[in-house]
Amino acid sequence: MNKKIAIRAENLCKSFGDGDSLVEVIKNASFTINKGELIALIAPSGGGKTTLLMMIGCVEEPTSGKIRLGDETVYDDKWLTRETRKIRREKIGFIFQAHYLIPFLNIIDNLTLLPQANKIDEKTAKKKAEELLHYFGIADKAKAMPSQLSGGQNQRVAIARALVNNPQIILADEPTAALDMQRSVDVVKMLKQIAEEQEVAIIMVTHDDRMLPYCDRIMKIKNMATVFE
Ligand SMILES: Nc1ncnc2c1ncn2[C@@H]1O[C@H](COP(=O)(O)OP(=O)(O)OP(=O)(O)O)[C@@H](O)[C@H]1O
Ligand SMILES: [Mg+2]
Repeated sequence: MNKKIAIRAENLCKSFGDGDSLVEVIKNASFTINKGELIALIAPSGGGKTTLLMMIGCVEEPTSGKIRLGDETVYDDKWLTRETRKIRREKIGFIFQAHYLIPFLNIIDNLTLLPQANKIDEKTAKKKAEELLHYFGIADKAKAMPSQLSGGQNQRVAIARALVNNPQIILADEPTAALDMQRSVDVVKMLKQIAEEQEVAIIMVTHDDRMLPYCDRIMKIKNMATVFE
């Protein structure tokens, strides 16, 4: 078994509805992504990017195909585990266009929520969260509320939150869409560094071609399947 593989999809298909209202979105997508890689995922609007991420993230059930995450096959024409939630919590970090921080919790409490849900004790969770805030240059914001941070700072907190569980995979759906050019480049460079240093596989959806040079590979959805450029 190849230990470098973080994500492998084989003939992954997804359609919504049936009969006359059947919409095929992803058809026979097959690809392998290794640990340490930052992948840009591009396709036109409605092209199936979010759907693909949500299948990899064990949120959306595929119609057919196979998904392997690390050394575990999680989907083979059906979920192979009853606990997709557990896989999500333990293996995957999500980052979205909006930061989705909880507005009435301060930054450190936002970061320690998920580890505690995973039954990691509060002290360990807090230490990890503080390390991440330090790493992202916002250690002084630990006690601040999300409304007191800038857009870029909140997005860094959202990235920290995606990392707090030491995931093997990060799925980022247009993480820079709400940021200006300089902040966007900062965030993408940060993701690249995380991928490399922590051997995490990152798939980042982006509509911004200026972010592509910072990514290792570009994956496109073409004719509903995936191709690398
Ligand atoms: N739950 C659903 N039920 C029916 N159709 C859906 C559902 N979710 C997505 N779709 C359809 O699947 C297609 C792909 O949607 P998806 O959100 O994956 O596109 P996208 O590439 O992320 O687009 P965008 O760039 O606008 O975010 C669209 O035609 C959409 O209408
Ligand atoms: Mg989308």
